[in-house]
Amino acid sequence: MGSLAAATEMPHAVCIPYPAQGHINPMLKLAKILHHKGFHITFVNTEFNHKRLLKSRGPDSLNGLPSFRFETIPDGLPPTDVDATQDIPSLCYSTTRTCLAPFKELLHKLNDPSSNVPPVTCIVSDGVMSFTVDAAEELGVPEVLFWTTSACGFLAYLHFRQLIDKGYTPLKGMKGIRLSDIPSFVRTTNPDDIVLNFILAETERSKRASAIILNTYHELEQEALDALTSLLLPPVYSIGHLQFQLNQIPENDSIMRIGSNLWKEETECIDWLDTKEPNSVVYVNFGSITVMTANQLIEFAWGLANSKQKFMWVIRPDLVVGDSAILPPEFVTETKERSLLASWCPQEQVLNHPAIGGFLTHSGWNSTLESICGGVPLICWPFFAEQQTNCRYSCREWGIGMEIDSNVKREEVEVLVRDLMVGEKGQEMKLEALELKKKAKEAATGPAGSSYVNLEKLITHVLLSPT
Ligand code: UDX
Repeated sequence: MGSLAAATEMPHAVCIPYPAQGHINPMLKLAKILHHKGFHITFVNTEFNHKRLLKSRGPDSLNGLPSFRFETIPDGLPPTDVDATQDIPSLCYSTTRTCLAPFKELLHKLNDPSSNVPPVTCIVSDGVMSFTVDAAEELGVPEVLFWTTSACGFLAYLHFRQLIDKGYTPLKGMKGIRLSDIPSFVRTTNPDDIVLNFILAETERSKRASAIILNTYHELEQEALDALTSLLLPPVYSIGHLQFQLNQIPENDSIMRIGSNLWKEETECIDWLDTKEPNSVVYVNFGSITVMTANQLIEFAWGLANSKQKFMWVIRPDLVVGDSAILPPEFVTETKERSLLASWCPQEQVLNHPAIGGFLTHSGWNSTLESICGGVPLICWPFFAEQQTNCRYSCREWGIGMEIDSNVKREEVEVLVRDLMVGEKGQEMKLEALELKKKAKEAATGPAGSSYVNLEKLITHVLLSPT
């Protein structure tokens, strides 16, 4: 460990993600990096997710280390079965209203000399858990808000207030953007909509943070990052792709065994990919939250079958609304020689596998960035949140994606999958993706990389600096 100080004087960062997969993953990466740089870490999960992690990763997975510990707070929702999907609006509503008190209690407990951990010196919180700003202010420690979105997605959220108040357009720093590319939460006619109001409150409170951090990099999103800097009071640091920074830590460091997958990974898919030619398999995965209708699932299925390409399709048990995913038996028979179906996989390993030639994605930010960093081009079917914005940037700004209509039809899937895997457009997008991957690597690996330098600045100027 590149220690900053003797153990008793270690700076102590409390890291608290929003309780969903796409937020826990990047926060855990950052926590490991900070630990490696000499911080004592308390990683705060919700009780519900703690149980899920124990189930998916086994009882030893959350024992932590003396200087990397897990704690839990309730999410405020009524207890449910660990396999049940949590409803996002309810979770937004309850975290905002109920989590501050148990979070403060936890800080109090950590700061009690009998706790045997160094006093809390900073808080790193998810951007949408900004109730923690109150706790940081009370404690007099710096608070960094980690928006686990793209810079363009976060920027679009910041424009919500203007959209509502003034119909303000064009949107600063987002030239040529269409309303349909703005995060889906603004598409409501109800001014009391829970998630809309949640986003308004969270973005507003961001202005009180000591700093804002994003898992992206300057060379990818310069314009959006500059616009964020001019709109926000706190400094904005792009520190991604965190995985490249994490790769600097030796694999045998005990911190590296800690994982964050809420579902059990089916690692056999890697063995299957090992038997396939380079760039020959399309990877299909819609992340941890997307749900679709049974009919949409069938359109995707026949589109994939008719494309005649090899594919690996991850179908979460709760992917289809109200029912478990049922694929037509003829589809299964017809494609079994050239397909693999799984329910959850080690996605970053998959995206870095040479056999993967393209990714049919819901455009979640982690998936998009992981794909860029694997040099893999995309077909985008954005579902909600800022996925629409990520899709727009992937397709129009970065030239690494093609969009599928939200009303998905098998013919369009078939044509786009073929274009992606064997067409000229796919080849061009692949080259762009490889170029962005190269830039991402340079940004994250020191000593001159933009994200590497930003992380060092964040640590010295914010996390280790008294408020
Ligand atoms: C979402 C989106 O990030 C974002 O658009 C929105 O703000 C709310 O959260 P999610 O839909 O899960 O999260 O997508 P994504 O951001 O892509 O994160 C999924 C994570 O799970 C990725 O890190 C991915 O590697 C991991 N994953 C997914 C697996 O490890 N295995 C799988 O089979 C599927």
